[in-house]
Amino acid sequence: MMRVIPETLVNLCKERMEGYNCEGFVYGRGPMNPAIMIVGEAPGETEIHNGMPFSGRAGKVLDQFFHYLGIGREDIYFTSTVRSRPYKIVQKKTVDNEMIEKKYNRAPNLKEQLAHAPILDYELQHVKPKQLVTLGNIGLQRLLGRKYTISDCHGQLIQSKVRRLKEFDSNEWTWSEETYSIFPTFHPASIFYNRSLEKDIYEDLDHLKDILHKKKS
Ligand code: URA
Repeated sequence: MMRVIPETLVNLCKERMEGYNCEGFVYGRGPMNPAIMIVGEAPGETEIHNGMPFSGRAGKVLDQFFHYLGIGREDIYFTSTVRSRPYKIVQKKTVDNEMIEKKYNRAPNLKEQLAHAPILDYELQHVKPKQLVTLGNIGLQRLLGRKYTISDCHGQLIQSKVRRLKEFDSNEWTWSEETYSIFPTFHPASIFYNRSLEKDIYEDLDHLKDILHKKKS
């Protein structure tokens, strides 16, 4: 699979990430000019381990969504707001009463999102997706700002400019010149915590199916 992101950019983002509790780096993956670009949150432990976006538990649920849409992974470009795994360390007692440290996945904070912003900016400009699908609040707000919440706008088609860094290596947001077609829905992992969201997600997918169908014809 050809890598879209130049190594210099990856190294820049790794430098920008120094001092944060984030590990590894998972490259975005998929074809140029894809039918869909998925914008997730950040890779988790499984993805860091095998270098493949959405290859863990949430990815299995996401695959069911694609199956429902009748679209294969090969037509989709996968990326996310942050490309490293943000983690937190939690002290745990073992059955033998020993204290051990465990790493858990967590959502990326705003500084980490800013640190990795050059990557998604670059991908948007070069991959040129026909349709963006954001998963959860993190991907949505990375692109449209914090006025947008997933509970208010999931399942709606939004035509908008998206947030990007003012300059390649800055820490200030501005808006893209291009207008993108953005479809927000819930993150597949959300149903692990709230099963009732599954119904909302499938209603969103029905709408997305229509949108994709109209784009084809
Ligand atoms: N969530 C994401 O946003 N990306 C992954 O690769 C896995 C889970």
